[in-house]
Amino acid sequence: MTMTTMRKGIAGGALFAGLLIVAAVSVTVGWRPIVGPRARAVSTRTFARTPGRLARGRYLVTAVTGCLDCHSPHDWSRHDAPIPAGREGTGQDMIVYKELPGHVVAPNLTPDSDTGTGSWTDDMLARAIREGIGHDGRALFPMMPYQRYRALSDEDLASIVVFLRTLPSVRNLLPATRVAFPVRYLIRAAPQPVTQAVPPPDVSTPVKRGAYLSTIASCAECHTPQQQGRPMPNLPFAGGFVAEGPWGRVASANLTPDPSGIPYYDARLFIDAIRAGQVKARTLNQIMPWRVYRNMTDDDLGAVFVYLQTLSPVRHHVDNSQPPTLCPVCTFSHGAGDQNQPLSSEARRTASRR
Ligand code: HEC
Ligand code: HEC
Repeated sequence: MTMTTMRKGIAGGALFAGLLIVAAVSVTVGWRPIVGPRARAVSTRTFARTPGRLARGRYLVTAVTGCLDCHSPHDWSRHDAPIPAGREGTGQDMIVYKELPGHVVAPNLTPDSDTGTGSWTDDMLARAIREGIGHDGRALFPMMPYQRYRALSDEDLASIVVFLRTLPSVRNLLPATRVAFPVRYLIRAAPQPVTQAVPPPDVSTPVKRGAYLSTIASCAECHTPQQQGRPMPNLPFAGGFVAEGPWGRVASANLTPDPSGIPYYDARLFIDAIRAGQVKARTLNQIMPWRVYRNMTDDDLGAVFVYLQTLSPVRHHVDNSQPPTLCPVCTFSHGAGDQNQPLSSEARRTASRR
């Protein structure tokens, strides 16, 4: 099951409601809520600390996957929502995100042995990142995007772990995650073991490299709206997903090349927007993690843009400068929602009249 929730709480409410429905009508959850998540035993493997891995891991974490962005507190009052000095990787209480089912806490990833990852083995970290099983064997709340990180190659995974081990150790005791009933049982269907080697991704063309980078950067987590805890099948990258918290209330943008999306973007505008958090005169909200992606190279950002241009156009107006109105396409209330037509059901009605 693909419960690609948000960082965000964007999906919180929808996830909660959706899981109930999933449990009632779907066989995909099966017995997992009762028998526990699919999990493999942790191994004794360790990842050799090489300079190459350290550099690759630093790049992935600080420019692409954004681990420390979620696992650190932020000063949301500023446009780039900076992490207070000395708090990088020390964890974040997700209470700031509205509508999460329960109390979710992104743990301290620094190597402190009491309150951080110091006593966890390399494979405990690896299994948490790609397979969604915590060091204690628990199914992780899928706001931690392990369903995306499944795509990480073995080498990229090792690089991330090697980099995390070099963070300055900071003591920071946080409350434990308490996911609300029944979601805490239902999420047990989300983890999946990785039992085969994951080779390096095919990055032979910019489109392929952009696809890999966008996956591990979790762009779709926010930019594909979710209903019932699942990405809506007709709306990949079409926006409309609402995030509410200390940053305000905003909907994600339609990134497809449709006239209602970002057809006017070129690579230069895209790179400038990500680097500055500004689309020309328009300021991008700080929930959009441009402060992470701005650290990508021009080449990699260019590849992400080329990939976005290959997306199928989806007609879906989303405009945060307008007051929120109910949208018949994505079911969220967002700016310009009332300018959208429920195309598929209209098509169905037309078909049934014939
Ligand atoms: C969208 C926000 C988000 C991002 C991005 C994110 N995490 Fe997490 N992570 C979380 C949350 C929330 C939890 C807690 C889940 C729970 O307690 O059920 C978590 C849990 C974890 C855990 C589990 C700790 C344990 O109990 O064993 C590890 C390890 C971890 N994250 C590492 C990472 C790494 C490494 C990355 C980047 C590759 C990353 N996270 C990216 C939100 C995030
Ligand atoms: C945590 C959720 C989140 C993630 C992850 C995320 N975005 Fe966004 N993004 C948003 C939101 C919300 C907006 C709308 C911001 C606004 O209107 O101020 C946005 C806006 C944008 C825009 C501006 C579009 C416009 O209106 O001109 C671009 C471009 C964009 N995102 C690209 C990306 C790419 C590429 C990725 C992955 C590398 C990504 N986003 C990941 C939430 C997210």
